[in-house]
Amino acid sequence: MTTASTTAATTSPHAIRHYLQFSDLTADEYVYLFDRMAVIKKKFKTYEKHQPLTDRTMAMIFEKASTRTRVSFEAGMYQLGGSVVHLTTGDSQLGRAEPIEDSAKVISRMVDLVMIRTYEQTKIDTFAAHSRVPVINGLTNEFHPCQILADIFTYIEHRGSIQGKTVAWVGDGNNMANTWLQAAEILGFTVHVSTPSGYEVDQSIAGIRSGDSYKVFKDPMEACRGADLVTTDVWTSMGYEAENEARRKAFADWCVDEDMMRAAQPDALFMHCLPAHRGEEVQAEVIDGPQSVVWDEAENRLHAQKALMEFLLLGRL
Ligand code: CP
Ligand code: NVA
Repeated sequence: MTTASTTAATTSPHAIRHYLQFSDLTADEYVYLFDRMAVIKKKFKTYEKHQPLTDRTMAMIFEKASTRTRVSFEAGMYQLGGSVVHLTTGDSQLGRAEPIEDSAKVISRMVDLVMIRTYEQTKIDTFAAHSRVPVINGLTNEFHPCQILADIFTYIEHRGSIQGKTVAWVGDGNNMANTWLQAAEILGFTVHVSTPSGYEVDQSIAGIRSGDSYKVFKDPMEACRGADLVTTDVWTSMGYEAENEARRKAFADWCVDEDMMRAAQPDALFMHCLPAHRGEEVQAEVIDGPQSVVWDEAENRLHAQKALMEFLLLGRL
């Protein structure tokens, strides 16, 4: 791999590693990263100082709302010894149509790392193409790789390797679903996908090579049968609010309930990236029940992204 010893002063674009999709890292790099997350988490839990990014600065650009992504990246960067600059569309020139290319050139001369939450993947791709420093996808319409990074780390912590396991995806064929499909192809597990008609995953948008690592089910109960992990997401993602009423009708049967969890393996876990809507995509009894690991999953955003930031800036330690 290329060791990314980038700083804001670095001019060579060749050394830069971005994290724009789950497929930007190899299976071997994920093995390293999941181990590294455990090390970094343990240090955090025992108040052992770990500041490899002293004097590094990250710009965080949010064009959509966030709680977990903002707090985990901001707290994570401070814990690693660095600092952050927080920008939104409304309080920067990004909202006044400054070209993405120009913004990328300017911001990446002043910081060491950029995290972006935005709409179309093409926007973050364009930013990255003109950035001197690594760019991390903090959610786009198409992908949410940092979330799946934390989700798989959470699975490993609770159950060991995810290789060969089955993940049931119940709900929208959205950014989370696409990223699960990429992860399955890279890490060797299967995704059972059940979406209402009209909201299916699209292999070309998901950016996967073949249909070998996922199976489509009309009935969400059948998707959950025998699964090792059941997961879902909101019916209406950010940016699709105009479709809210149509989605409420279409998704009515795509609510993860106790019957679906009973159809899964007896030791199946339940995950949700949050925020959740109890009574819509998941029953309260499931998300607040014994198989749910959603709070570990949310916390692990912090540890997973600290390992990711360290890796993108310093390579393997
Ligand atoms: N799961 C997640 O990305 O949450 P936020 O929208 O709160 O960042
Ligand atoms: N699919 C959701 C995830 C939120 C973290 C969205 O894009 O709004």
